[in-house]
Amino acid sequence: MTETMRENADIIGRGEINDLEAIMAVSNTDWDEARHDVSSHYDTVFTWDYEKGSRPKLDKLYEKAKRSQWNAQTDLPWGTAVDQEALVRANAAANGGFLAGVDASGTPVASWGDAEWTQFGVESQNWTLSQFMHGEQGALVCTAKIVESVPWIDAKYYGATQVVDEARHVEVFSKYLDEKLSGHYPINAHLRLLLDDIIADSRWDMTYLGMQIMVEGLALAAFGFMYQMTTEPLLKQLLRYVMSDESRHVAFGVLSLQELYGALSSAELRERQEFAFEAAVRMRDRFLQQEVWDRMGVDPKQVAPILLQVPERKVFQTMLFSKIVPNCKKLGLLDGADGWLRTKFTELGVIGFEDFADTGEEYESLQATPQSAG
Ligand SMILES: [Fe+2]
Ligand SMILES: [Fe+2]
Repeated sequence: MTETMRENADIIGRGEINDLEAIMAVSNTDWDEARHDVSSHYDTVFTWDYEKGSRPKLDKLYEKAKRSQWNAQTDLPWGTAVDQEALVRANAAANGGFLAGVDASGTPVASWGDAEWTQFGVESQNWTLSQFMHGEQGALVCTAKIVESVPWIDAKYYGATQVVDEARHVEVFSKYLDEKLSGHYPINAHLRLLLDDIIADSRWDMTYLGMQIMVEGLALAAFGFMYQMTTEPLLKQLLRYVMSDESRHVAFGVLSLQELYGALSSAELRERQEFAFEAAVRMRDRFLQQEVWDRMGVDPKQVAPILLQVPERKVFQTMLFSKIVPNCKKLGLLDGADGWLRTKFTELGVIGFEDFADTGEEYESLQATPQSAG
């Protein structure tokens, strides 16, 4: 056990979780990069056991997925006009103004008026949707890898439906950015590091854990939050459909890994816990939106501390973990191996979600019926 003991510095590249200086030092310097290659070595597994339904929960998920397909081009009201600035101003008004309740004196944004904050809101939305799009491509690629590497036929069948789902998700976010918003952002460096680790790991369950449980668990919570907040009808409907798919994807992770993780040794569990912790921290770090501040001409280090005081953001940051924590608990990752991950999630301030509904059960209530399916 002692040989596998790793410190924060080994796992996330810094000793102190909240070291803003170190977080900001990780940034994407090549904004014009058009392709990104990751080398990965893993076994592609054929199975000659074709017995459909030998894992009934996965089989049920597969049948549900086939009935829940929707068409990104024809099932959404793409004719909806979107006025980004008006939405930003309305949202601020609903929250009592920009930066309500936060003391920004002495920072570069102290002199900002409505014009700057509106522009910031617009850029922030461009950034958020861009990161969703990049994350969706990560899911597309990871799920294709899962189809190859998972040894069970029911999981290969289900995974194939998820590949189609993820293609559609990349498609809708890309179309929304191009037609309704006002600019793209390159992938955030923290998110890219995480996707690289997930796709490069040779163990098939690590791709599952990183993508299905961590990235998609966070996405499901983030989409849910945005779905509640947005007053833009096209985005609302788009998110409703995407969430319906995502809840199946997270359930796929929970229902698959449950079988495997019950049989792991303490040392093996600890490796999974460290991976989950790394993923959690990287995802949290990306929400500091460094690239937006850069584009606004402000040093992100000078504003990050005040940004973290905005009440809506505080709720959002914590909410992001509302699916991840109960799902990790369900998989035995919180309390296995001496409860290492419980300690880490306590440090991150998110342990309070441990008794929320896990997605292995909850997904059924989140299904939406596509219009084309009647
Ligand atoms: Fe997705
Ligand atoms: Fe997904």
